[in-house]
This record gives sequence, C-alpha cells and structure tokens, in this order.
Amino acid sequence: MNTHKTLTQFIVEQQRANPQSTGDLSGLMNDIASACKKISHLVNRSGIIGIGGAAESENVQGEVQKELDIITNDVMVDHLNWTGHLAAMASEEIEDIIQIPEHYPKGKYLISFDPLDGSSNIDINLSVGTIFSILRCPEGVTNPTVEDFKQKGAQQVCAGFCVYGPTTMMIITTGNGVDGFTLDQDVGEFILTHPKMTIPEDTAEFAINMSNQRFWEEPVQRYIDECIKGIDGGREKNFNMRWVASMVAEVYRVLTRGGIFLYPLDNKPSTKGGKLRLMYEASPMSFIVEQAGGLSSTGRERILDITPEGIHQRVPVILGSKNEVERILSYHQQ
Ligand code: AHG
Ligand code: MN
Ligand code: MN
Repeated sequence: MNTHKTLTQFIVEQQRANPQSTGDLSGLMNDIASACKKISHLVNRSGIIGIGGAAESENVQGEVQKELDIITNDVMVDHLNWTGHLAAMASEEIEDIIQIPEHYPKGKYLISFDPLDGSSNIDINLSVGTIFSILRCPEGVTNPTVEDFKQKGAQQVCAGFCVYGPTTMMIITTGNGVDGFTLDQDVGEFILTHPKMTIPEDTAEFAINMSNQRFWEEPVQRYIDECIKGIDGGREKNFNMRWVASMVAEVYRVLTRGGIFLYPLDNKPSTKGGKLRLMYEASPMSFIVEQAGGLSSTGRERILDITPEGIHQRVPVILGSKNEVERILSYHQQ
C-alpha cells in the first residue's frame, strides 16, 4: 500500500528543516489549502446550488465578473484575514489592497491572489483554479500600502496554484523545487502525489490564443509560424497545439509533460501589451516554472525581475520548456 504524505505533514517537515522558522508560513499555507478545498467544493457544486452564472458587475480590469469570481474572492478573504499571518492582501477582483480588520492581529506576510483563474471556463465545465503569491511585509511596516506590494517576483517566499479539474491539485514552491498534491475528496486532505516536478527542456507542444495572431510582434509570429510548418519549415519536428484559456490548466500541463505557453505582447486594444496580471498570474507562475527547471520571460526580460508599477499591472508572458523559451528570446534579440 502507498504511504501517503499529506500537505500538512509536508509543510511541517519543511518548517522543521529550517530552525529559524516561526511556523507562520506553515500556518498561512495551511489556511490557503483550506480556502482552496472550500473553493473546490463550491466549483464542484456550482451548477447544483446555482452559482455558476455571470454576475452583473465588472472587476477593476473592466472584465465581466462571474458569480464565482466574487464568491471565491470572499472565500479567500474570509479564510485568510483573521489568522494573524498576514499584514494585507491584494486580489485580482478588488481595486485596492485588502486590509486586515482592526480586531484581528496582523502578521508578517502579504498575499496576492487570483481567486478563480480561467473563470470563463466555468459554464463549459473546463478546469479553473486559484493562484497565490506570498511576499514578506517590509520590516517595520504595520499598515501596508500598495507600495509595499511592489516587490519583484524574485522576492516571493512562496507561490502556488490549485487547479479544479478532473481532480483538484495543489502545486506549491517555497524556492526549493515544486511539489504537487492531489485532494483526496473523501478525507479532505491534499496528498503528495507529484514530488519534485520538473519541466522537460524540450517540447513539441505550444499553447497560444491563435485568434490574436494579427496583433503579435514579429518574433512571436516567426516562432509560431515555424511550429506550424514543423519539419517542412526548418524545425526538426512537428508541433501540436493546445489552448485551454485557463492558465492554471496550461501551466499544470507544462509542469507534467513540458510545453510552451504564450500570452505575448500584442497591439490588441483590449489587452494593451499583455493580458495576464503580473502579481496574480505571471509572477507566481514564473516562480513555479523556474523552480521546475523552466524559463519565464516577457520576451524582453525575466518576469521575476520586474518591479510592479501597480498591483493590477499586466505583462506579456512566455513560459515553459527551457530550450523553446530560449529560442523565442533569441528571436526577440535579433
Ligand atoms: P481570469 O479568468 O482570471 O480572468 O484569467 C483568464 C486568463 C488566463 O487564465 C488564460 O490563460 C487567459 O486569460 C485566456 O485568455 P483568452 O480568453 O484571451 O484566451
Ligand atoms: Mn486569471
Ligand atoms: Mn480570475
């Protein structure tokens, strides 16, 4: 019989390996896991309990919200604001940073999250997820402002995502590799099923929204054109394509079998230079991808080296198997 290590056990063992650890990060990671279990349950039952539809509101990005965007945001806030591990929060769905209520103690970490990534997939029953990024609250700051969140992705203490697909999976890194856990729905525990995930350096699979092709820059045009032409276009192999329109599902695929995922710089008016949000999507996913041996860039710079200009900033994203990302970067340099 397999001996199953739970996420809780994994986190405690990591904590014990670091004698300076106070247990705060472990506590926070467990709180996030609880929130994700709740969200998994809600997503799973959304059709039955009637919360799978559109809301009548737009978020700060001007995107039409789904009911579940709002509900999952509230689940994250309600699971994390009282615990004493956080000094403030930032959410893709909320314009300003979220303060910890006065009557709760404040902690030493900041969190930013996308409570429901890929929410346009809810009504068609495809995978969605939750993405999070943990930063240290700067020393001496007791009332964090937006400025305190403007830290490079390289300063993240922990990043992770949960994908609600055929199974619910939690992927985490604290800068010591990437580990994957599957939710055992019967006992309500995440079980370590995918230890030390690594991204193959080579791939023959790309993911991009082809409907934006006319808006791309030359280096991406060239790269995708070569993939499509395959062995007839100078590459030594033919390529396959995927587009789930849910970053959590795309990054999970890249982590398990390699691949390249692009939401590149384009001149489409609605996305203006990139669709994905630096603090809620690009930065945490880049930390995970690099920790698994892949690369992540805007095409011009490493995503983890970008200092955010604002909490809702968008950036181009090119991530995945190392050798393919390097090829695209070389096209940008030419
Ligand atoms: P969100 O649902 O949080 O707004 O994010 C959706 C993102 C990302 O998950 C996905 O890769 C991309 O938007 C899909 O974009 P298109 O709709 O342009 O394909
Ligand atoms: Mn998203
Ligand atoms: Mn979202």
